[in-house]
Amino acid sequence: MVSYKELGLVNTKEMFAKAVKGGYAIPAFNFNTMEQMQAIVQAAVETKSPVIMQVSKGARNYANATILRYMAQGAVEYAKELGCPNPQIVLHLDHGDTFELCKDCIDMGFSSVMIDGSSLPYEENIALAKKVVDYAHQYDVTVEAELGVLAGVEDEVSSAVSHYTKPEEVIDFSQRTGCDSLAISIGTSHGAYKFTPAQCTRDPKTGKLVPPPLAFDILHEIEKKLPGFPIVLHGSSSVPQDEVDTINKFGGKLPDAVGIPEEQLREASKSAVCKINIDSDSRLAMTAAIRKYLAENPSHFDPRQYLKPARENMKKMYIHKIVNVLGSNDKL
Ligand code: 13P
Repeated sequence: MVSYKELGLVNTKEMFAKAVKGGYAIPAFNFNTMEQMQAIVQAAVETKSPVIMQVSKGARNYANATILRYMAQGAVEYAKELGCPNPQIVLHLDHGDTFELCKDCIDMGFSSVMIDGSSLPYEENIALAKKVVDYAHQYDVTVEAELGVLAGVEDEVSSAVSHYTKPEEVIDFSQRTGCDSLAISIGTSHGAYKFTPAQCTRDPKTGKLVPPPLAFDILHEIEKKLPGFPIVLHGSSSVPQDEVDTINKFGGKLPDAVGIPEEQLREASKSAVCKINIDSDSRLAMTAAIRKYLAENPSHFDPRQYLKPARENMKKMYIHKIVNVLGSNDKL
């Protein structure tokens, strides 16, 4: 058993309290690779932002759980080396689906875990979340739980349909589980295809899809029921169309990929939403840079040559989110 405190990580408690009060949101970036980790840390240090580095079950299967944990420990030391003496970095489990997985992460030094029982019947979701909270709180680890179902596909989490969170359930759920933050469903979804063309309108000038707006009425009702309680938005990539265009120009095929418009995320950040999850945008930024580089340099084969622009492009995207969308810069 290793405590996250020994690794220099922090939990989400104080970070979220400040973010809710200050009207901004903490970025929660998923990572699987060293280049993503480096880009996240560089972006957080340069913007003086707290950051959540999150690992999904799929990431653990891909990269190895132990390696990812040491990478997070390395992230703290790397941030210090870059000139940030007291970085605020959370290592978070994204979409934990069992008590055992959450316990394993807590025992190996995670400072925060999500238990996602959102696909279970209400009472079972409560029982599972409470079991995780009871264990996690013994070690000062914070817990995110979820009510409502997001559509889309992300690693091992997928659902064809979404169910908005019912505001009338949130008080009972948060009190009975004791969770520290609540992920809600208000129309975001996982992946690069958040909406079908039938759910969108089309911009007559660009031909691009315009997605339906998020259900801010539900968010505001939830805020009224749980004043000051930290709310989390999953599925919040905006699927930048310049990256999609680059991918398509250099041999990719992502027709009609569409995300959440950044103005809506900006609006959400000012509310009780204090954690915004972004994964697909990093995947797109990485893929766009690699496709472009390899198409323009067909004789190159050293991974460092194409991973360097990929890392730069992800860093640019992370900084943009922090400064122009979430507003978490200068909050260390
Ligand atoms: P995106 O697929 O929109 O990046 O969402 C990521 C996410 O919510 C991870 O839990």
